[in-house]
Amino acid sequence: MIWCVGLNPAWDVVMGLDPARGPEGVRVAAWTEATPGGKANNVARVVRQLGQPATAVGLYGGAVGELVQQGLREAGVHVLAGVAEGATRICLTELDGPRRREVRGRGPEVHPSQADALLQRVLAAAQSNDLVALSGSVPPGLAPGVLAQWVAALKPHVRFMALDAAGDELAAAWQAAPDLAVPNLAEYRALGRSIRVGAGPRWVAVTRGRAGLSWRERGRWHRIPAPPATPANATGAGDALLGGVLAALALGAPMADALALGVGIGTASVATRGVGVLPVEAVQQFHTALGTAPS
Ligand SMILES: Nc1ncnc2c1ncn2[C@@H]1O[C@H](COP(=O)(O)OP(=O)(O)OP(=O)(O)O)[C@@H](O)[C@H]1O
Ligand SMILES: [Mg+2]
Repeated sequence: MIWCVGLNPAWDVVMGLDPARGPEGVRVAAWTEATPGGKANNVARVVRQLGQPATAVGLYGGAVGELVQQGLREAGVHVLAGVAEGATRICLTELDGPRRREVRGRGPEVHPSQADALLQRVLAAAQSNDLVALSGSVPPGLAPGVLAQWVAALKPHVRFMALDAAGDELAAAWQAAPDLAVPNLAEYRALGRSIRVGAGPRWVAVTRGRAGLSWRERGRWHRIPAPPATPANATGAGDALLGGVLAALALGAPMADALALGVGIGTASVATRGVGVLPVEAVQQFHTALGTAPS
């Protein structure tokens, strides 16, 4: 099982704006796509498209929370849902020709006991051969360092613990030494030098948009270029990359191969306008490279 943990899930709405304006300058969506979101849910949907079992773990509230969970189940993802005080948020991406604008809901108020109860349920269910992705932002109400607490609690119980976060939460969880961290370049630079070179993840993979990935193992850096792509929507590319890495690791790939396959999956996801949506050929190529069968 691949557990995709996100404390602040979302209903993600992507709107492609019509270049022609409506009456009084109102913008009209030429098309709209809506999916269960929040970074961890994107990872879970990508893992599933690659044929591996995924459980999305999150805190949910209100009708939007129900909608997100239902969308996950329809995508074949198992759901382990805890209760949040308020209503699950909505995130909006507007695509206006080449311009992309993201508006992110902040998320519901969560009481620390609600997050703790969810962590206990994951600990009770996770098996030693499982993989975990801990991804995304933290909703209001939780104490700083909550992601570090989750890394420290989960890592000893599972085979592999990956982290994708930003800012102070990334800095604290970094020092809890997950197996892998996947910050983008800006998130990595914001960490500060003393944290970057200090004790931390065994593997660090810094995503660099269309330039691909740099990754580090035992102090040595390696580069993986991204294949050329015509981007339709780059939102969630890092989540797709992490889903690809975890699915490849679950299928037995060594880290260098898993990261290279992850870059391919990240790039494939930018060619579709949906978030965390892979073209079928990308799924086929992934399995051909691994010598496995898509299911
Ligand atoms: N324009 C692009 N062309 C080709 N590949 C891309 C492009 N943008 C992203 N990718 C692929 O996706 C991977 C992750 O992208 P990026 O560094 O933008 O992640 P991110 O900032 O974490 O994204 P998000 O937070 O939206 O998930 C890259 O390593 C690359 O493989
Ligand atoms: Mg990212």
